[in-house]
Amino acid sequence: MSKKSQMDIFQSLRKDVFGALEEAADFDAILKIEAESLGKSGRLTNILKSLKDMPSAERLVIGSTANALKKEIEEKMKEKKEEIGKKIKTEADKAEWVDVSIPGKKIKRGHLHPISRILDETSAIFESMGFEMVEGPEAETEYYNFDALAIPKNHPARDMWDTFWLKEPKDQISLNDRSKLLLRTHTSPNQIRYMEKHQPPLRIIVPGRCFRYEATDATHDFQFYQLEGLMIGEKTNLAELKGAIELFFKLLFKDKNLQIRFRPGYFPFVEPGVEVDIKLSQSLEWLEIAGAGMVHPSVIKAVKLNPNQWQGFAFGMGLDRIAMLKYKINDIRLFYSGDLRFINQF
Ligand code: PHE
Repeated sequence: MSKKSQMDIFQSLRKDVFGALEEAADFDAILKIEAESLGKSGRLTNILKSLKDMPSAERLVIGSTANALKKEIEEKMKEKKEEIGKKIKTEADKAEWVDVSIPGKKIKRGHLHPISRILDETSAIFESMGFEMVEGPEAETEYYNFDALAIPKNHPARDMWDTFWLKEPKDQISLNDRSKLLLRTHTSPNQIRYMEKHQPPLRIIVPGRCFRYEATDATHDFQFYQLEGLMIGEKTNLAELKGAIELFFKLLFKDKNLQIRFRPGYFPFVEPGVEVDIKLSQSLEWLEIAGAGMVHPSVIKAVKLNPNQWQGFAFGMGLDRIAMLKYKINDIRLFYSGDLRFINQF
């Protein structure tokens, strides 16, 4: 081959390779060009391979030209690879870029219902006084809600608790008092439930929702929360009841000068029975907040304990009333209205 045509081949090879490299948009394209020119049977490789068959003068010229071109191509390729590498990185950086100066999204915080808050605080105080918290069913039997608490059928005291009776299941032929269902009118049935299963001495509190079939107004709802307390021991007495309740309210309202007073009250399952009033130190009014008393011997007997050995006190306080007082809420019905404007204030 003449030198001239050999040089033409170099020219067109150079043009092809550089042209292709100019257009190459990614690594794959470069690798392809590399293989076609410098690969095992690439165009330039073939020329270099053929050198050994050339006369030495020709070999010298062609060889040095070929090697120079090889070097040139390799350099250009390296350059191009770096260029593409940079481009890819910038694009990735762009895609991943985060503007740390944009204000964060506000996380919406939930609110505890005021009754839940009162319950949390209340149980913490009583637990610190050694009371254990337990729970009982909302659908209760006539036996636990009334009979075992010394309120037999036709007893006039039943009128104190306007009751929601539940429909009798059809598949049951006849229900006895033990299984006739109602919505509990107070948390006191849990005195019985607990003492049936646990030996005294004992100290429990039982929070829970109660229901009464009555007209509603700002201070009465047909549903409300009570907290039952029960302490049984061999010498548990009325002074301890008073001490426990007084300490509880002082701690809850963080009011050292809070006053409490007992008025005689009637509940068939306590003797003596009292109504508990409290007065906050800045307040002029007494507020009725709980019923309480010494557990009636007939209740002790109903759970098969010996009333000559065991005695104790019980109380039932209205958690709604306490929450109303603590958070200055003037209508009990707001608690169960589901109105977020109300709940969000807590
Ligand atoms: N269970 C009574 C009520 O709901 C309150 C009470 C509880 C009274 C315990 C005395 C002892 O009215």
